[in-house]
Amino acid sequence: MIRFRPVLFLTTTALFALGACSKPASEDGDKAGASSTETAPDTASTPVAYASLKGDAAAGEAAFAQCKVCHSLEESKTMIGPNLHKIIDRPAGSVPGYVYSAALKSSGIVWSEDKVFAYLEKPQALVPGTKMSFAGYPDPQKRADLIAWLKANGGS
Ligand code: HEC
Repeated sequence: MIRFRPVLFLTTTALFALGACSKPASEDGDKAGASSTETAPDTASTPVAYASLKGDAAAGEAAFAQCKVCHSLEESKTMIGPNLHKIIDRPAGSVPGYVYSAALKSSGIVWSEDKVFAYLEKPQALVPGTKMSFAGYPDPQKRADLIAWLKANGGS
């Protein structure tokens, strides 16, 4: 009797092990299914497209008040920041004599309205390492108004 016991024990263990092995496999399958639904498109924070907004130049003048601390629209005038004369469609880092950050200088950006719109939301996000110490205007309409004002006032 004693001689048969280990065989019985091994057989039971083997069957149990087989059962245990097949279980995680099916669990993996379930997990894969679940994670593929989790990566479905995230609709929580869709950014507002510049093209969908209409800028109001008059409202934009007030928004420029903060920029004026560091920027002039006059071609000859450099302040803390470079002048913003004809800024729309101007290549980034191109005011002669102004010492830009390496980040902005090498960004390859051309200041289309879209790019200015993106930069002003959060300068450090579009150009990590920029030395423009301005937190940004989160309100998309305010940025669109400001761009309209820049275009109407020597900024384009
Ligand atoms: C505290 C000062 C400060 C404020 C406020 C500020 N800027 Fe700037 N801005 C800078 C500096 C400094 C740079 C140069 C950044 C660099 O070299 O990385 C710059 C760069 C820029 C550039 C890129 C210019 C170029 O020649 O490539 C644009 C466009 C710009 N600012 C627009 C604005 C606008 C519009 C506002 C207002 C919403 C504003 N900035 C507010 C300091 C400021």
